[in-house]
Amino acid sequence: MHTQAGQGIPVPVTITNSTNFDPQKTRTPQRMKKVCCIGAGYVGGPTSAVMATKNPDVSVTVVDYNKDRIEAWKTNELPIYEPDLLDVVQHARDPVAKRIPNLFFSTDVEGAIAEADIILLSVNTPTKSMGHGAGQASELCHLESAVRRIGEVATSDKIIVEKSTVPCKAAETVRDILNATAKPGLNFEILSNPEFLAEGTAVRNLLHPDRILIGSLNTPRGLAAARSLADLYASWVDRSRIITINLYSSELAKLAANALLAQRISSVNALSAMCESLGADIDEVSHCVGLDQRIGPKMLKASVGFGGSCFRKDILSLAYIAESLHLPQVADYWRSIVGINEYQKERFTRRIVKCLYSSLSSKRLAVLGFAYKKDTGDTRETSAITVVNNLINEGANVRVYDPLVEEDRVWEEVLASSDRRETVKQRLSVWPSAYEACADADAVIILTEWDEFSNKISGPGDARGRGGDRTKRVLDWSRVAGLMQKPMYVFDGRNVLDAAPLEKMGFRVESIGKGVV
Ligand code: UDX
Ligand code: ADP
Repeated sequence: MHTQAGQGIPVPVTITNSTNFDPQKTRTPQRMKKVCCIGAGYVGGPTSAVMATKNPDVSVTVVDYNKDRIEAWKTNELPIYEPDLLDVVQHARDPVAKRIPNLFFSTDVEGAIAEADIILLSVNTPTKSMGHGAGQASELCHLESAVRRIGEVATSDKIIVEKSTVPCKAAETVRDILNATAKPGLNFEILSNPEFLAEGTAVRNLLHPDRILIGSLNTPRGLAAARSLADLYASWVDRSRIITINLYSSELAKLAANALLAQRISSVNALSAMCESLGADIDEVSHCVGLDQRIGPKMLKASVGFGGSCFRKDILSLAYIAESLHLPQVADYWRSIVGINEYQKERFTRRIVKCLYSSLSSKRLAVLGFAYKKDTGDTRETSAITVVNNLINEGANVRVYDPLVEEDRVWEEVLASSDRRETVKQRLSVWPSAYEACADADAVIILTEWDEFSNKISGPGDARGRGGDRTKRVLDWSRVAGLMQKPMYVFDGRNVLDAAPLEKMGFRVESIGKGVV
């Protein structure tokens, strides 16, 4: 038993799953006709677009107070880059092929809330930057302001869905805010329906999800609300993949999934350090362990560290929750995953310095890739921020190229995390092509696994949409060789290179988890 926030009423929590819906407890679910998604970002935009495409009888309105973002969603230059996203958006948004548009983008947050049957909360929940829990807990101010707005505006019952990743028991916070702000007599059902999409593959993940989690209270209204949301997904997802569970299990499952995925990467990265000392090859080790069906091959690629808006934030949030539950050993365990990630970035920088004769002073280093992974222009928590700053602090002139990341974004990220801003301004430059970045370089450093940089892939990448041809380039390494200073070092932080052909061209290739004895 625990207490429902703000009311002091004990609420029994029973875990239910898709097979044990209690029909006695289940009200007849209503077909939702109007969906409002608050937050037009990486989660809200693609999720709403797919939901609208697959439910032509449902009107989906995505709202955001960021006018520029909303305006961009109405054009063919979407505010985020995702392969195939433009096709999906156009299909639901534009009056084509006799289909009545049912996907709308608007800054009228209040209007969309008022009309909606169901509201998806897709606002950002970054790590807190100040106050209690700074650097660890999730910042819920955006969630709070969105929920307040719902409470103030709503004149009819609503289903409120947590799509953003939130700390466990956030549903109680949502309920508390609604109790304080909403008009009496209205009913709000709160569901947890975490998003599992990964950037770069968001559309595929949404169209073919491993599972859809829907957490609700085990009450007649809670279960009916879960069924209503499940019906929207059932338009394209097999019912067997739609799992209805306890509200708080669902909240925790999202954090747990990200923590376990990140834990695999940190485990492999820890092994990569051992490989470099032992003369083993991390790709071979990962391949061998991944053949064990209990382990599986995915998320075992060694790298210069994981980035993105989720892994670090969610692990720190999980650790913070563990600490507040007086479980310090559990908190330490989760934090160590982030610790290895930081270590990996530092270790990679140290290897570069050591190979380049222990000094980077005035050396020219070309950094290829700044996004936190390929097929996205997102730079949140990218390892490149730390590595570029480290290289600059060692005295290097760093020349960055990324096929999708805008120049301003690189500057903002590096400057924001530097305490030597003037030095950054002198030593950082951003270039529109890999060749320009590599001109006269002493070394090339690969920080993102863009297909363009790999000599293992014969054809161009399959990315489409914003960025167009820029994501389809293929780097001619022999041309790079002609541009560089001798000796020509390549530091492959993503293991995208087959070293042998490059070594024949005269490169010295240093890859993560390989080569150093
Ligand atoms: C992640 C989860 O995968 C997704 O389910 C969740 O909803 C959001 O967080 P995302 O961060 O977009 O998605 O990308 P992901 O593919 O998981 O990669 C995260 C980071 O780990 C990237 O920096 C990636 O390059 C790195 N990574 C991934 C590795 O270093 N090695 C791997 O084997 C896989
Ligand atoms: P995510 O990766 O979780 O989708 P993003 O930062 O890409 O995060 O998107 C979150 C979006 O939510 C942003 O565009 C932001 O402007 C929007 N947002 C945050 N709070 C509110 C709010 N109270 N009302 C409307 N939009 C909001």
